[in-house]
Amino acid sequence: MSKHNLENITRDEYPYLNLGLEGIVAFSTTKSFIDGQKGELVYSGYTIDTLAEYATFEEVCFLLWNDRLPSKKELDELNSLLVHERKLPKPVLDYICTTEKHAEPMAVLRSSVSMLADFTDPSLDDTGNAIVMTAKIPTIIAAFARARQGLDVVSPLDEGSTAYNFLYMLNGVRPGAEAEKTMDLCLILHAEHGMNASTFTCRAIASTESDIFSAVTGAVGSLKGPLHGGANTAVMNMLLALESDLKTADPVAFTKEKLEKREKIMGFGHRVYKTFDPRARLLRTMSKSLSEETGHEILYEWSEAILKTMKEEKNIDPNVDFFSATVYYSLGIQPDLYTAIFAMSRISGWTAHYLEQMSNNRLVRPRALYVGDKPKEWTEISDRS
Ligand code: CMC
Repeated sequence: MSKHNLENITRDEYPYLNLGLEGIVAFSTTKSFIDGQKGELVYSGYTIDTLAEYATFEEVCFLLWNDRLPSKKELDELNSLLVHERKLPKPVLDYICTTEKHAEPMAVLRSSVSMLADFTDPSLDDTGNAIVMTAKIPTIIAAFARARQGLDVVSPLDEGSTAYNFLYMLNGVRPGAEAEKTMDLCLILHAEHGMNASTFTCRAIASTESDIFSAVTGAVGSLKGPLHGGANTAVMNMLLALESDLKTADPVAFTKEKLEKREKIMGFGHRVYKTFDPRARLLRTMSKSLSEETGHEILYEWSEAILKTMKEEKNIDPNVDFFSATVYYSLGIQPDLYTAIFAMSRISGWTAHYLEQMSNNRLVRPRALYVGDKPKEWTEISDRS
């Protein structure tokens, strides 16, 4: 299909034309605030730095769903509900174990989330279903990661945090305290981020009064794209491609060459941030220390070289996906699972937005500019070339 030429479209004619909806405010929310100039991110009244220092992922889930921190009793209740809901319905597990081994993890996650709707307890409300999905998504990801390698699926533990249990189910061994803390911090940093494409998808689906499973299924599909959550896998593949020929690897020349060809470097740029993404700042610190600990210093050094080149050549800063890639790599996670891990965290933000949309609903229904032909005479099939 050809690219549309919109050069002659005037603002007077179409005052509302805004490709990519940049700067458009379509919803109100209490879930997060981003100051793109200062590089500030707030979830329901708490800065990301405060949450990174003090919160657990489960506390962040409660915060996003309720706009306040839980009491000890409420957090204990949420933790035990999340633990209780970890197991998958048998048909979902069967699907995960029998689907194509080369299937994309995000495609398997999307189908599995969709299937969960068939097995939900009809007495659960939307918050209950948000808890169900938050509990089961890590099990889906870990089960597929093992099944595709021909390994036994590891059943979830009936104790421990989401981060701890996920690493256990993925690797079949109990993780150390540092690995759990790193994973938990990654989950906190990816939980919520304003009106990004997948959250917008989730709210647009919610606005039709469709169910929460449909909204999350759509959101997973939206996150999958390389311009959104898929960028973290693309970053790792880029670093691994460089590593494949250590003798000639030159991250600066690589970056410049791509920019000359007007290609994008994944993990850089953002629609809202015009400065360093605060999540990237926190992940950069983690990436440095983990890379040193695990002997992947070179990947961190290359990341820094790419970052410097991007700043000098384009004045573009990294986003959340750039350093999360090397952090997950240091945890021993396979690169094509990174986007699914993003979803494992963002489920909290998506479902919080679903609940919010349902209490403040108006159908999402923008317009499209028609640039097709004017009405024409019908051509009989025999006369068409
Ligand atoms: N590499 C090279 N140039 C870039 C990049 C990049 N990663 N990002 C933006 N630019 C350039 C782009 O070429 C354009 O330059 P020019 O004006 O000379 O044509 C200018 O910056 C504006 O870019 P844009 O694509 O029009 O900006 P946008 O607001 O539409 O796109 C973005 C935002 C995130 C899609 C884009 O920066 C991008 O494609 N980045 C790479 C993919 C990526 O890392 N995505 C993860 C986003 S953050 C996590 C998430 O929310 O999922």
